[in-house]
Amino acid sequence: MKKFNRKAHWETIYQTKKFEETGWYQQTPVTSLAFVAKLKLPHTARIIDVGGGDSYFVDHLLDLGFENITVLDISKTAIARAKARLGERAKKVHWIVCDVSQFKPAQQYDFWHDRAAFHFLTEEREIEHYLRTIRDCLAENGFLVIGTFSEQGPKTCSGIPVHQYSEASMTEKLGQFFERIECITLDHLTPFNTTQHYLFCCFKQLNLN
Ligand SMILES: C[S@@+](CC[C@H](N)C(=O)[O-])C[C@H]1O[C@@H](n2cnc3c(N)ncnc32)[C@H](O)[C@@H]1O
Repeated sequence: MKKFNRKAHWETIYQTKKFEETGWYQQTPVTSLAFVAKLKLPHTARIIDVGGGDSYFVDHLLDLGFENITVLDISKTAIARAKARLGERAKKVHWIVCDVSQFKPAQQYDFWHDRAAFHFLTEEREIEHYLRTIRDCLAENGFLVIGTFSEQGPKTCSGIPVHQYSEASMTEKLGQFFERIECITLDHLTPFNTTQHYLFCCFKQLNLN
């Protein structure tokens, strides 16, 4: 059987579909922005959007005055699209093309955000690597927000399987590394008028001492 090529999969998605033709499309990433507001992050906060694709989250963060934003994605096409959309403003953002399961951060972050990328990691060793990476690069008092499909959500996304989470399983997995702040569930309305049930959880870096 041919081995699944994750990078090629995502490049094909971004080369063949417009953002509005994907299930994860959002004009305004309201839930993510609500967490940003709630956490009262300073404008200097070092923010990373993991699996950011060509989401408008970065546009909103720039509009809000955030000065230190990184967007990471496995797809160079997605990053190129986001950069093209932002034009001159793209120069204010750090862009990383990388598979997060192999990411070795070169700096610390105050806020790690991931909407619908983490759930594509289905192998235990990759999940473990992902969580250890956050633990190692999240600054003291830093926060992370992860949005995944819930156990009532779809079992696949863009044609590939996802790992669904419940509040309990997310808390069990992340609780070994981080302090749980809040989990919420919601229905995301796709451009095809279907709903996808999501779980968003916010955690805080444990005191490292
Ligand atoms: C469902 S889309 C969500 C995009 C964006 N977060 C949003 O909310 O619009 C998943 C994104 O994660 C990226 N992705 C998937 N697996 C990844 C990995 N292992 N490392 C980095 N990015 C990944 C994909 O290229 C895609 O942009």
